[in-house]
Amino acid sequence: MACDQGCLRLSARLHAVAEFVPQGARVADIGTDHGRLLVEVLTRRRAQRVIGIDCRTDPLRVARSTIDAAGAEIAARVELRLGDGLAALAPGEVDAIVIAGMGARRICTIVDAHRDRVSAAVTLILQPANDWQHLRSWLAGAQMRPLGERIVWERGRAHLVLAVTPGSWLWEPDDISFGPRLRREPDESYRAWLDVEQKRMQAIVARPGAAGPTARVWCERVAAEWTRVREGVPA
Ligand SMILES: C[S@@+](CC[C@H](N)C(=O)[O-])C[C@H]1O[C@@H](n2cnc3c(N)ncnc32)[C@H](O)[C@@H]1O
Repeated sequence: MACDQGCLRLSARLHAVAEFVPQGARVADIGTDHGRLLVEVLTRRRAQRVIGIDCRTDPLRVARSTIDAAGAEIAARVELRLGDGLAALAPGEVDAIVIAGMGARRICTIVDAHRDRVSAAVTLILQPANDWQHLRSWLAGAQMRPLGERIVWERGRAHLVLAVTPGSWLWEPDDISFGPRLRREPDESYRAWLDVEQKRMQAIVARPGAAGPTARVWCERVAAEWTRVREGVPA
C-alpha cells in the first residue's frame, strides 16, 4: 500500500514532529523537501489540509511523487508551493506551522521575517538540526510560550522537537539551557540526553588543558541538572 510505504519511511524524528500537530489542524510544512511529513499527518488523520512549501523546485518534485504515491485521497488535501519561508503563506491560512531539519539560526530568520503569520492561534512546531540553546533563547526574546518539548533518539543521535505559540512565559536561564518543558517534565529521553551530555563534558574537562572556563561551567551545570532530575527535585 502506498500509505504504508510513506509511514514506513518516516524517521522517528519526523514521527515525533507529526505528533505535535494539533488534531484537525490546517498545517504548513516549511522546507517540506521529500514531503513525507505531509503524508504522515494526513494519513494519521491529524491534519485537515496541508501546504508543503520549499524554496527549491527539485525537493517539490520529490514531494509531488511522495504524495502521488500515497493515493488520490491524500493528494486531494495537499498543496505544494514554491516560496521562501512564511512569505508563501497568507496570515490566518493555517493553524500549525512546522519547520524541521534546518539549522536553528535559519529557523529563527524564517519566523522573524514574517511574524504576522504566527498569531496566538498558531502552533509553531520546530525541529532544529543544531544549536538548541540559540533557538530557545530567540523564542524567549520573541515572547513565545512553550507548549511541548521532546527529545527523540535516532541512530544514537538526539533530536529536539519544540512546540510554541505566542504568549507569556517567564523563561529562566535553565529553560534556555535544558528546555522549558523537558526540565519540568523529565522523561527517559531527557534523562538519556543528560547522561550522554554529562559523560561527554566530563571527558572534555578531564583532558589536561583541553577545556576552557565555559566548558567547565557547562559541565557543572549539566551535572547539577542531572542530580536534580535523578533525585526527583521539581524544577
Ligand atoms: C534539510 S531539508 C529538511 C527537510 C524536512 N523538513 C525534514 O525535516 O526532513 C531542508 C529543506 O528546506 C528547504 N528550505 C531551506 N530554506 C528554506 C526557506 N527559506 N523556505 C522554504 N524552504 C526552505 C530546502 O530547500 C530543503 O528542501
